[in-house]
Amino acid sequence: MNAQVATQPGAEVLFTPIKVGELTLPNRVVMAPLTRSRASTGNVQTAMSATYYAQRAGAGLLIAEATQICPEGQGYFATPGIHSPEQIAGWKLVTAAVHAKGGQIVLQLWHVGRISHTSLQPGGKAPVAPSAIRAEAQTFVAEGFVDVSEPRALELAEIPALIESYRQAAANAREAGFDGVEIHAGNGYLIDQFLRDRSNHRTDAYGGSIENRTRLLFEVAAAVARQIGAGRTGVRLSPLTSFSDVADSDPQALFNRSVERLATLELAYIHVIEGETGGDRDPQPFDYAAMRKPFHGAWIVNNGYDRAMAIDAVASGRADLVAFGRPYLANPDLPRRLRENTALNVPDPNTFYGGSEHGYTDYPALD
Ligand code: PHB
Repeated sequence: MNAQVATQPGAEVLFTPIKVGELTLPNRVVMAPLTRSRASTGNVQTAMSATYYAQRAGAGLLIAEATQICPEGQGYFATPGIHSPEQIAGWKLVTAAVHAKGGQIVLQLWHVGRISHTSLQPGGKAPVAPSAIRAEAQTFVAEGFVDVSEPRALELAEIPALIESYRQAAANAREAGFDGVEIHAGNGYLIDQFLRDRSNHRTDAYGGSIENRTRLLFEVAAAVARQIGAGRTGVRLSPLTSFSDVADSDPQALFNRSVERLATLELAYIHVIEGETGGDRDPQPFDYAAMRKPFHGAWIVNNGYDRAMAIDAVASGRADLVAFGRPYLANPDLPRRLRENTALNVPDPNTFYGGSEHGYTDYPALD
């Protein structure tokens, strides 16, 4: 028996550089986007957030938390935006601090669709969605957790302005100093609501067939790529998650086609949440390799990865990079800890959303 068969490759596979579109990254460890709900009045990031991201600049790539592209895109209290001059200025503090530490950072572009509440919407109006179907889900508003509101269906004539909001947000992200953007098309938010047939009952060009349900994703990605370059554009997908009350009758066909369409744009990367977001990695059979097949950009995997799983994913070629969420909350120096195989700090769920420096910028690094 060959002794090498039984020996796992070392963590060094995570510490080789890789080209991701226009970016050259020093390692394969990605900070996943994490909602922290610490934006100030006007949904503006602060110097405290700049410290938090700069502490994590050793990641190969930082994906900044989900950020609303327009006022209607907000679904939770104190999440940041990228649609006002003040918000662009707030994010400049973050990108400058990360770049000063040698890191690279992209912004996750977010529209929550129906996962919102009238109290968060301009004029107290109903949130928008592909169809007027209320999600069985809750959101967090100024007073605490509440059921999400009943949405109204977007008119066909409103879709060009929606796509324009994504394009403008991508331009704003570049103005704010981001190295690129990640279009959030997962976790039951707006684009995912269009993709999946439980939430999309439209009968126009954006509903019904897989071709129609993938149209918004494709048009948004094309508009963003045209604005900032395909090599600075990524997409996040979550084919099996039921997070925020989404489901599809044929996820394999839907997400194979989604990736096939995105592949024609030659995007920098696709970032896949495998299984239930933050939960069961294997809720039903799914062939991720088949989904990946047409795509030649970088493939980022996420969801419950530990050191051994990450090494295996990259060493086997199943993924190019691995995104860590929970471990990054409490371990600002996560790449070093993975490389040296040291213990990890344990994150405190009481400080995930909202609050101060505590549980945000005060987790210790080694030494
Ligand atoms: C959240 O705010 O809880 C949240 C945001 C974006 C996600 C998932 C969860 O993709």
